[in-house]
Amino acid sequence: MIIEPRMRGFICLTAHPKGCEQNVKNQIEYVKSKGEINAPKRVLVIGASTGFGLASRITSAFGSGASTIGVFFEKEPAEGKTASPGWYNTAAFEQEAKKAGLYAKSINGDAFSNEVKQQTIDMIKADLGQVDLIIYSLASPVRVHPTTGVTHRSVLKPIGNTFTNKTVDFHTGNVSQVSIDPANQEDIDNTVVVMGGEDWSMWMDAMKAAGVLADGAMTVAYSYIGPEVTEAVYRKGTIGRAKDHLEATAFEITDKLKDINGKAYVSVNKALVTQASSAIPVIPLYISLLYKIMKEEGIHEGCIEQMQRLFEQRLYNGSAIPTDNKGRIRIDDWEMREDVQGRIAKLWNESTTESLAEIGDLAGYKQDFLNLFGFGFEGVDYLADADEMVQVPSIA
Ligand code: NAD
Ligand code: NA
Repeated sequence: MIIEPRMRGFICLTAHPKGCEQNVKNQIEYVKSKGEINAPKRVLVIGASTGFGLASRITSAFGSGASTIGVFFEKEPAEGKTASPGWYNTAAFEQEAKKAGLYAKSINGDAFSNEVKQQTIDMIKADLGQVDLIIYSLASPVRVHPTTGVTHRSVLKPIGNTFTNKTVDFHTGNVSQVSIDPANQEDIDNTVVVMGGEDWSMWMDAMKAAGVLADGAMTVAYSYIGPEVTEAVYRKGTIGRAKDHLEATAFEITDKLKDINGKAYVSVNKALVTQASSAIPVIPLYISLLYKIMKEEGIHEGCIEQMQRLFEQRLYNGSAIPTDNKGRIRIDDWEMREDVQGRIAKLWNESTTESLAEIGDLAGYKQDFLNLFGFGFEGVDYLADADEMVQVPSIA
């Protein structure tokens, strides 16, 4: 079977196993090229198959030789259908980890459920005893609450007023106005239930009670702040309320882990093209302008560069972890530089369907989007039969 990208809206229905493998191999090479990081050797990554979570897992394994357990929710290949990219990414990661003599096991299931938490705890107990670092990197539009059984759906809406601004359809390059009606209280509450800190806290409670957290264990979850142009729909919108909740939860978890000298942090990461971010209106236009400027300045980073720098220069830099006045780790420092943001504000006003190809990096956006699904990689023969390239990862 020859696999081609099949786009539907903000999603690609197919994924390429060889391309996903190339993506993982490129990330591993990058981490190795940066040298060893003095970081923990037993790491759990929740949301480990794509985006920042995958990059965190690769950084742990190939930057400091860590044993890793990865939890995610991905589709395996079926008759006439490719797997989702995260499944192929994990197959490739496990293959490379095995070659390097590194322990790597994965759990494919709903991280919000009690069952998957228990399965993970059992695996830690059996194989690693305890873990020293827990990365929490879930991005999901829906959560079935484990105690009530209620299905909560998150929404991406402004709060208070209708939000109107520019956006781009990154497939066509068409810049248009988008209007989003404000959320009601139920929307806000649901988004906080899905993307806030409750589930993170439940993971930490369950692991602590089971005795699988090592003394001095650390946990890190990921957040975003971003620029003024996206503020109404992002940081001051429904998802922003969830991020406020996530950030507040870090302090609660730290309190609960006092007796084992544990600590919880939130790291504010850079805006990047991932499956989660392409679905947010306005963000793709912002990202295409941001990429152009950051590439020109020589400060552009992808997920792997971000996570490598987070581990080496923030989490395990050999001294205190630097934070902002709200206790957050900032690895979005280059994105938020005054000169970068100043230029964005100016370009934002100038961007139209006609000008964007020139003033923004639409091509870079599209390339990154294709890459998410394993397409567009150099060194991959996309005309070759892809059937036999599917390896089964040791998914529990
Ligand atoms: P992503 O979509 O690439 O990754 C999401 C991960 O969560 C995948 O591994 C997926 O399998 C897993 N997942 C989703 N639902 C699950 C479930 N029910 N059970 C188990 N696993 C599940 O997203 P990402 O962009 O890497 O986002 C990770 C975190 O980083 C999020 O908190 C996001 O808000 C944050 N963040 C993203 C950006 C950005 O620009 N992309 C910037 C800053 C912070
Ligand atoms: Na992730």
